[in-house]
Amino acid sequence: MRVLSGIQPSGSLHLGNFFGMMNKMIAHQEQQDLFCFIANYHAMTSLADGKQLATGTLEAAANFIALGMDPEKSTFWVQSDVPEVQELTWILSNFTPMGLLERCHSYKDKVAQGIKPNHGLFAYPVLMTADILLFQSDLVPVGKDQKQHLEVARDIAIKFNNEYGEIFTVPEAEIDEDVATVPGLDGRKMSKSYGNTIDLFLGEKALRKQIMRIVTDPTPVEEAKNPDTCNIFQIYRLFLDGDGVASLRRRYLTPGLRYGDVKQELFETVRDFFAPYAAKRDALLADPDTVRKQLKQGAEKARAVAAKTLHKVRKKTGLVY
Ligand code: TYM
Repeated sequence: MRVLSGIQPSGSLHLGNFFGMMNKMIAHQEQQDLFCFIANYHAMTSLADGKQLATGTLEAAANFIALGMDPEKSTFWVQSDVPEVQELTWILSNFTPMGLLERCHSYKDKVAQGIKPNHGLFAYPVLMTADILLFQSDLVPVGKDQKQHLEVARDIAIKFNNEYGEIFTVPEAEIDEDVATVPGLDGRKMSKSYGNTIDLFLGEKALRKQIMRIVTDPTPVEEAKNPDTCNIFQIYRLFLDGDGVASLRRRYLTPGLRYGDVKQELFETVRDFFAPYAAKRDALLADPDTVRKQLKQGAEKARAVAAKTLHKVRKKTGLVY
């Protein structure tokens, strides 16, 4: 089965990215034909700083590899190294009703946040569809925030197939309902654009500072607390197994728990969880040419697959004459 997903390199990666997508992709490598890319074209919709985009791309790749993405086992590349995706985006645009894009929440949310929309932001889901269809992906692991984009991808694939025959695999989203949306420090979805993230590979001081900012309710120490509405609990549970979650829950229900203590434990847990990967990440960042080489090799593998799909599409649509 072909499993594909992408991640934007705008800013540091955070726990939402890790639990929503990265760790699932890493786990899928063992059994599946995994395709994974750094979505630098997508990042351009929110980043107009060339230097930052280039650095962010390498950093995101190094982080992913350090955490276990294996460029030998999987196909791992940078989106813009396979420019075929842009041609497919154009072709698919002609199978994309305006209403389908106008209904997209992530576009509407960004506009509501005051971001002046440009065509790139509006057309973003078509590029994402091209990413998925170009590689004939069966399964796309994502966080819940991408669910609607996957529905758009399916709609476009079906519309194209109805017109031209079974060219594209119609993809399925894989959303882990237990994770779905990782909350940020303030309880909203953890997101760079909300400034409420806990970032991967922070130094101890900065990590503790982020975790101490988690917003809690004013329940007094001597009263029982509600784990289900507590942002610390909702983040902490991602690092625990079933017994660990049950025992933390019991502590919440017993009067006397101090949020400050739980934050300190969470800080130590996050620090210790990522510590084993930090040395590899630092080594990769110190040797960016090795990372570049691995990404270029990934792009070659990806391009071979892309070329096959695109050839079929060009033929069907009359671009080959
Ligand atoms: P991006 O870069 O915003 O996020 C990468 C992945 O992380 C997930 N994620 C979360 N999951 C749970 N809780 C959160 N708080 C959270 N924040 C982020 C996202 O759902 C995503 O899976 N459009 C995509 C990138 C993309 C893509 C694709 C994905 C481009 N082309 C093709 C799949 C297939 C995006 O912006 O993800």
